[in-house]
Amino acid sequence: MDTKLSKLIAAETKRQDETLPLIASENFCSQATRAALGSVFVDKYAEGEPGKRYYAGNKVVDELERHVIKQLKDLFIPREADGVKIDKKDWYANVQPLSGSPANLAVYAALLKPGDTILAMSLTSGGHLSHGHAVTLPGQLYKIVNYEVDPKDNFLHYDQVLKLAKKVKPQLIIVGASAYPRILDFEQFGDIAKKVKAYLMADISHLAGLVAVQCHPSPFPYVDVVTSTTHKTLRGPRSAFIIARVELGDKIKRGVFPGVQGGPHLNQIAALSQALAEAKHPKFNAYIQRVIRNTQTLAQYLGEGGLKIITGGTDNHLLLVDITATGLNGRQAQEKLEKVGIIVNANTIPFDTGTPMQPSGIRLGTAAITTIGAHEKDIKVLAELILDVLLKRRPAKTVALEVKALRSKLKLVEDLEFATKD
Ligand SMILES: Cc1ncc(COP(=O)(O)O)c(C=O)c1O
Repeated sequence: MDTKLSKLIAAETKRQDETLPLIASENFCSQATRAALGSVFVDKYAEGEPGKRYYAGNKVVDELERHVIKQLKDLFIPREADGVKIDKKDWYANVQPLSGSPANLAVYAALLKPGDTILAMSLTSGGHLSHGHAVTLPGQLYKIVNYEVDPKDNFLHYDQVLKLAKKVKPQLIIVGASAYPRILDFEQFGDIAKKVKAYLMADISHLAGLVAVQCHPSPFPYVDVVTSTTHKTLRGPRSAFIIARVELGDKIKRGVFPGVQGGPHLNQIAALSQALAEAKHPKFNAYIQRVIRNTQTLAQYLGEGGLKIITGGTDNHLLLVDITATGLNGRQAQEKLEKVGIIVNANTIPFDTGTPMQPSGIRLGTAAITTIGAHEKDIKVLAELILDVLLKRRPAKTVALEVKALRSKLKLVEDLEFATKD
């Protein structure tokens, strides 16, 4: 291996082994998933779809892609959700998107014409750049209108979204977020989309693991399209998928290829197969439940310690903290925490008066730290260490030593066995 590269891999391994990961969009995938990513599938080209490829030699990868599509539908499309019957036959699935942003772009390419209107959550309310922010290509191609959380309680108020939808008559409504700590009511969004005759897309990138084990309501009875990354709470490889109503299947297929990308990355698709198999296991359900408990515990201790938790808590794997009262901005907080080995990201908060580079909050997630075995007692220690730094209660050097001690007790637990034990 290139000497510089092998040094960098060693350095990143050390960094990961010595720090506490609280980035809400990260996780540690299993060794088996990593092995599939580095498998022979990395070398094959397979433009097209199973049975209809542009190159030869696709017998095995056709079988792989069909297998993963089946696994995906088995995991995400239960026979019934919210008392509504759902049939896998009514849904088309595509596992070729290279990542979350291209998956979303492929949906827009499939369903919209340039100039059409998209109604999506603003970035400061918790939405994602790929939902049409002005700095992105979709932001230039489509007319983007944003809905916000309510300024008083920072929850989504669905009557406000409906009012705006009626006013702007969008062709597409997006429900999905990267920094919204509460349940997303897909049913209410379904009603809104029906009333204004818009397509409804749920981007469940952050919630995929929770949705897979019914720890968050399923979007399927109510939406036209679901997109998702596979590397956050789902604990898979960097990749993405799209599931759409079967009648939209051909459009979505062409939106992905040749619309926005060429050949699929079959090694990612192989790794997704492994992650989906792991997510089917009952231990994954226990893992996700622990993630939610850990996040709620963290929110509780940080709140009791004097920090302002946006919406007062969390229903999922992440929480947002308004740190204005500490005298720091989000970037400074991120840097101070990184110095002691706690890795978080600066984040805008609803109606932020700061800038995306100097926002007023930080976002914390527990999916990764739970994968390395953190229980509530560890979370309590972690919360105290965060408070020590942000409230300047103890010297950074002392805190850094305790971070190291806590990290050394945690390690990647391949089979998630820990999640089922207290
Ligand atoms: C809701 C949401 N959608 C899409 C994406 C984009 O994913 P990617 O970074 O894989 O393009 C993210 C990533 O954080 C996300 O949170």
